[in-house]
Amino acid sequence: MFKHIPSYPGDPILSLMHTFMKDDRPHKANLSIGLYYDEAGKIPVLKSVELAQQRIDESVPHVYLPMEGDNTYRRLIAETVFGADHVAVKEQRVATIHTLGGSGALKVGADFLKTYFPDSELWISDPTWENHYNILGGAGLVMHTFPYYDPATNGIRFDEMMAALEQLPARAIVLLQPCCHNPTGIDPTREQWTAIADVLLRRNVIPFFDMAYQGFGDGLDEDAWVVRHMAAQGAAMLVGNSFSKNMSLYGERVGGLSVVCNTSAEAGQVLGQLQATVRKNYSSPPLFGSRVVSGVLGDPELRAMWAAEVTQMRKRIHEMRAALRSGLKARLPDLDVEYFVTQRGMFSYTGLGQAQVDTLRDEYGVYLIKSGRMCVAGLSHGNLELVADSMAKVMQP
Ligand code: LMR
Repeated sequence: MFKHIPSYPGDPILSLMHTFMKDDRPHKANLSIGLYYDEAGKIPVLKSVELAQQRIDESVPHVYLPMEGDNTYRRLIAETVFGADHVAVKEQRVATIHTLGGSGALKVGADFLKTYFPDSELWISDPTWENHYNILGGAGLVMHTFPYYDPATNGIRFDEMMAALEQLPARAIVLLQPCCHNPTGIDPTREQWTAIADVLLRRNVIPFFDMAYQGFGDGLDEDAWVVRHMAAQGAAMLVGNSFSKNMSLYGERVGGLSVVCNTSAEAGQVLGQLQATVRKNYSSPPLFGSRVVSGVLGDPELRAMWAAEVTQMRKRIHEMRAALRSGLKARLPDLDVEYFVTQRGMFSYTGLGQAQVDTLRDEYGVYLIKSGRMCVAGLSHGNLELVADSMAKVMQP
């Protein structure tokens, strides 16, 4: 019956994680998948999260959540993404649901758009997270790219990007990452975001923001700037967010999808269709993670503790970026590696090619993904020498 089923070559990001875990060399560094490791090389349990977890009443029955998730969790998502005083939140124009991480938000959002905007096609940055193609294309959306990364300058091809956005048909869908662009680490400046927002509003397109790393760029509020700006300008749009990284709750699948509408009546209609989309996909979201997140965000003391922990993680990433730049500069003084400190978030596009990435992994136990993307959040003082030494070897002219 199943003879014709081809074997699965594995996911390019997730299978590397597997290979890394099986690698028994004593000195190795996992800089492939987007995981934040602490200075001790461990995936942390945040103190705020641990305390929230301890306060959970374990005698409460494990009932099904509603299709859209728990109301408190949904309100707290909207407040984190938009800010509690945002005009769209106050006017009840935002329909928010719990999704299975940021990936779940992409899937539910894509299914919703495919159903209600069947003729709309999707534009996405070149390059983008590999799995965007699987999730969004898999939902049936026809996908195109717009220019983004410029290898010559290690920056954005901003003029070309703007020219492409200027050509979009009305109701086109544009996927954007408000902060910490995956895979490049290169974000538009505030001035560039303002110009991007203007053209998106003028072209009457549907922005779909994928915000998986809120707080890892410049701050929890700063990273959401363009989302809040466009929602305040009256844009109808979608925002996916995730607590996987910023609460270190990867496996709990705690994310959200918010659809910003023009009126609260529209938001009611949209919420109903999001519920229906969830029901068709997986019926309802998991309970435990949302209780933990609500425990953190709903308690002023724990929320402040969490914000401080996010700041700490962000600062450590910046420090490791600077340390890697210095380490490489010391070994290869003529090489321009300034981009390590100008890029933002967990990822850095190193410009390394497939052969260099293979050598790093096979000869030195340093794992990057094949596009040359490095997860700088996996660096620590414990593996920095190994990484700088081996990178210098493969980068020397
Ligand atoms: C990544 O890009 O490494 C993360 O978003 C994790 C994943 O699922 O790919």
